[in-house]
Amino acid sequence: MKTTTFVSIVLCALLASGVQTASAQGPAPDSSAIEKRVDGLMTKLTLQDKISLIGGDEGMYIRTIPSIGLPHLRMSDGPVGVRTWGPSTAYAAGIALAASWDPGLAERVGRGLGQDARARDVKFLLGPGVNIYRAPMNGRNFEYFGEDPYLSARITVGYIQGVQSQGVVATVKHFALNNQEYDRHGVSSDADERTMREIYLPAFEAAVREAHVGAVMNSYNPINGVHATQNSYLNQKVLKSDWGFDGILMSDWAATYDGVAAANNGLDLEMPRAAYMSEKTLMPAIKQGALQISLIDDKVRRILRTAIRFGFLDPSAEKEQFSRFNQQGIQTALDEAREGIVLAKNEGGLLPLDSKSINTLAVIGPNAWPAVGGGGGSSTVTPYGAVSILQGVGALPGVKVLYSPGLPSLDELFNQTHFSTPSGASSQNRGAIKQEVFPNRDFTGTPTVSYLSQIASWKPLAWSEDAGIKKSIRYSASYTPDVNGKHLVVVAATASDGYDLKIDGKEVMKQVSRENQGPQTSEVLLEKGKRAIITLEYLPGAAEPRVSFGIRGVEELITPEALKIAAEADAAVVAVGYDAPVESEGLDRSYGLPFGQDALIEAVCRANKKTIVALTSGGEVDTHAWINDTPAFLLNWYPGQEGGTALAEIIFGARSPEGKLPITFGRSWEDNPVHDSYFAAPVADGQIARVKYAEGVFLGYRYYTTRHKEPLYPFGFGLSYSKFSFSNLKIYAAKGKDNQDFDVSFDVENTGQREAAEVAELYVGDPSAKIERPAEELKGFKKTRLKPGERQHLTLHLDQRSFAYWDVSSHDWRVDPGQFTIMVGDSSENLPLNGSITIP
Ligand code: BGC
Repeated sequence: MKTTTFVSIVLCALLASGVQTASAQGPAPDSSAIEKRVDGLMTKLTLQDKISLIGGDEGMYIRTIPSIGLPHLRMSDGPVGVRTWGPSTAYAAGIALAASWDPGLAERVGRGLGQDARARDVKFLLGPGVNIYRAPMNGRNFEYFGEDPYLSARITVGYIQGVQSQGVVATVKHFALNNQEYDRHGVSSDADERTMREIYLPAFEAAVREAHVGAVMNSYNPINGVHATQNSYLNQKVLKSDWGFDGILMSDWAATYDGVAAANNGLDLEMPRAAYMSEKTLMPAIKQGALQISLIDDKVRRILRTAIRFGFLDPSAEKEQFSRFNQQGIQTALDEAREGIVLAKNEGGLLPLDSKSINTLAVIGPNAWPAVGGGGGSSTVTPYGAVSILQGVGALPGVKVLYSPGLPSLDELFNQTHFSTPSGASSQNRGAIKQEVFPNRDFTGTPTVSYLSQIASWKPLAWSEDAGIKKSIRYSASYTPDVNGKHLVVVAATASDGYDLKIDGKEVMKQVSRENQGPQTSEVLLEKGKRAIITLEYLPGAAEPRVSFGIRGVEELITPEALKIAAEADAAVVAVGYDAPVESEGLDRSYGLPFGQDALIEAVCRANKKTIVALTSGGEVDTHAWINDTPAFLLNWYPGQEGGTALAEIIFGARSPEGKLPITFGRSWEDNPVHDSYFAAPVADGQIARVKYAEGVFLGYRYYTTRHKEPLYPFGFGLSYSKFSFSNLKIYAAKGKDNQDFDVSFDVENTGQREAAEVAELYVGDPSAKIERPAEELKGFKKTRLKPGERQHLTLHLDQRSFAYWDVSSHDWRVDPGQFTIMVGDSSENLPLNGSITIP
């Protein structure tokens, strides 16, 4: 459906009811007419009705009030597909969309999502997710738009405009500073005002001020010690007062901790139900004068206002029918995957492969099949069909594909680790692992003893949390290696668990401070045939223990078949990375690749000089073991249901890669400015764990460029099969504006041999500022698609905000007079065009 269809339908309905509106994505509807209609409805509601409306219903609804014509308003996750109500289009992850650097594409994706929502009677889409990429481990980075507030804001606005053009409310989340998953209800994100305003809030601000988003979702975490749902500074001051947000502020699911505090400090709707903002809690507070009825009224008005604005009270307005199977959406998902994939390394021009000389291609690795289109948690979409990398490459005519997963899956590993009893041979009629369950948290007293054959209860639903368990479990067994030397050991536990693994009495892995909650790998040296005693002490933090343990000798790790096909083939693709169980909402992932994958890449690179590593991930990983010996490296992020097709097109050159990094890809975790302040120090029971955002505004490329540190791949970088040059920079005061608005123009030329896309990136520096500012900050960009030899003249606009920083004394944006540097190029490290301007 075209935007105009929805606009005119709702317009007719609203005119009929005396309300005038404009497009849901355009200027704000005629608010006085909507307010009048809200006034009328408010008179028909009792205080009980009003309170009942501000608590969610049936997990995913706003309550219906038939007497005023308010229907049951259905919601759905979000953000990469309409996932809650059966199969749907699985779009590429947010990080891939950001890597496209294409707000127009974001708008198309939003439109597709809006149509998918309409086909399922969904009124609120729980997306986009716009939290900033602070550290690679955050289990939800893949849902978000990268490290830069400007890029993130542009993608956010496009996405929301697309969703809302279809008459569906977008819900921008998670407000705010929800930058890690470990202990996400408990850890306080402590950031100063400038850091918040410059880095973590601009995407939300653009969602409200530019895209007029209908709903905002508060995050789980405390911010500077106060939970988001009751954080007056963020909700009342920043969101509602400074930005003028007039829609609904809802909680994340079970992110409300104190009903009266939430009601007093800006929360409008508790989801998924009124556990705290209920009649039982709020009525006494109202009676005691601790909560004003006017605040309840304001919340109800916001819900009604939004419902009227989107036409939900005028159901006859919704004539357009949408199919659940969205053909256009599938095409959009394919384009998204194509635009988002980043080619990071291409030594000797290995890519694109020439199908004339490459007759046989080995496809190896755990991520080759089945398709890994998305990460885990509430964003996981079940598509009607998904194309894996194996299927994508296999569909190309004339290429013979040889395939091997190369490694056991985690499930296989856990289930195929053969134990014997700690004291010797395994028993015939009972498992070899002794399990002792203690009725306390310190492994004391008399345990309940049973015998298991495996320690394997790691489930894909690892993101669901339910703390409060009062037991401790000790597993003991012995393991007799079949090979000599290095062995990889894996323990998988959930975000809130603790464990301590000892082999022959020596500690091998320990999780105490809630770091690294995804499955973790470690190395030990063992002797063939010599029994090793394994002891795993486990403190479950979730309702059911979900711990698994596996061990395998490096020599027996990689399947012989994988090595054979790698050696035989003309070229090899190693598909590695994470998947939904290990990179997910509710837990943080490892920085190193999952179990055995470094060794797999090394082995395939040794066997075949034309090896391409294709990485599935939400961000950077540890590459040090193999990057120097790997000729080609592609980042496919989580590419959605069409990812395999897009990757195959790029590998064989049907398309040139055009994705650009929306993050800085570091050389090591130690190099990252967040390294020393990502994990909260352990605290005593009852105290708040805190993460201090000590790097301040110097995050990602802002840090690397200012401190002259070289990353592995810089922000904004991505190779193409063509070449581009930048020239002819001109900077002039924008016509008709005051002297703080400038236009920056330049030429981009395709100097290579084939059609391809390039992103021109514009950065601003403020060397004469009164405070230290990053050496450069992205303030404009434009993607352009050019034929060989074609040149385009581009103009980017810089407004006053492009030069401003957040001034903590005036609590406002401020431009210091002086010189500003203007830089244009194709990454934060390659800016061939340089100029400067002076702001008096
Ligand atoms: C997530 C939200 C999601 C909600 C509803 C929460 O666990 O954090 O992003 O929208 O669940 O599924």
